[in-house]
Amino acid sequence: NQVHVFAPATVANMICGYDILGFAVNEPGDEVILRKTEELGITILNITGDDGKLPLDPFKNTVSHSAWKLFCDLGLDESFGLSVELHKKMPIGSGLGSSAASTVAGVFALNELLGKPLSKDQLLPYCMEGERLACGSAHADNVAPSLFGGITLIPSHEPLIVRSLPVPEELYVALIYPKVDVPTKEARRLIKNNVPLEKAVKQWGNIASLIAAIYEKDYDEIGRSMQDEVIEPHRSLLIPYFDEMKKIALENNALTFGISGSGPTVMALTKSEQIAETIVSEIEEFLNEKSIEYFSYVSKI
Ligand code: HSE
Repeated sequence: NQVHVFAPATVANMICGYDILGFAVNEPGDEVILRKTEELGITILNITGDDGKLPLDPFKNTVSHSAWKLFCDLGLDESFGLSVELHKKMPIGSGLGSSAASTVAGVFALNELLGKPLSKDQLLPYCMEGERLACGSAHADNVAPSLFGGITLIPSHEPLIVRSLPVPEELYVALIYPKVDVPTKEARRLIKNNVPLEKAVKQWGNIASLIAAIYEKDYDEIGRSMQDEVIEPHRSLLIPYFDEMKKIALENNALTFGISGSGPTVMALTKSEQIAETIVSEIEEFLNEKSIEYFSYVSKI
């Protein structure tokens, strides 16, 4: 009558693939405990790790909103009720797919509690509704990798197509979250609707080459193709010392460096755990000098 699940944080966009590419990390992430109750309806019993920022109203919180929709669609809402505990083990509004991790944990937990009536492909549209609630846009580049794991490509949202890509085994990521708030809704407003053709050509060349390089395990080309001249110039302005952190990462052998999702977390992709650890400690030293607070993580992809 109870399940306890974990859903991982994710790095959306993979720098050049705005709204279409993303990968999951090992940590951080969200934990959810979901229980059946005799009382009908859904309640959030408890949230920890959110500094009181998240709503306890189950219809306003992504952890329960989509799970409830699924529960009703399955026609079970008159049979029994649900209670949810959410333990946030990751920062909110950080560019690490916090709302996505909560949504995926909630929806996945419900499916487990019910004995897995739906496939992950069937759960995905419910998870995307959580993103719509969180930021007004039902993009899948956080929820898909959080649900499926690994690297995912969403070549189309309508109709919804998701492809899992192979993960080159030596790929690691260093993530640094400088503690400033950048809500996704605002970060999406910064982006221009029109992209000059020259930049578009560069961007789709990079995305195409990135996919080929992932299949070929060509680490240098993975790094070279993960660049972004369309979004990064606007969003990086919201991230303290973005250029300086990029310089440190590249000088310390990062394959590439850029914004994780909508920021302010930044990511350095590396070919070993050791390189990722070095980049994290160099950037931490720099941020300490500048009195900027941060969280950092190193993870295998
Ligand atoms: N693709 C999204 C964006 C990810 O960059 O706005 C953030 O959730």
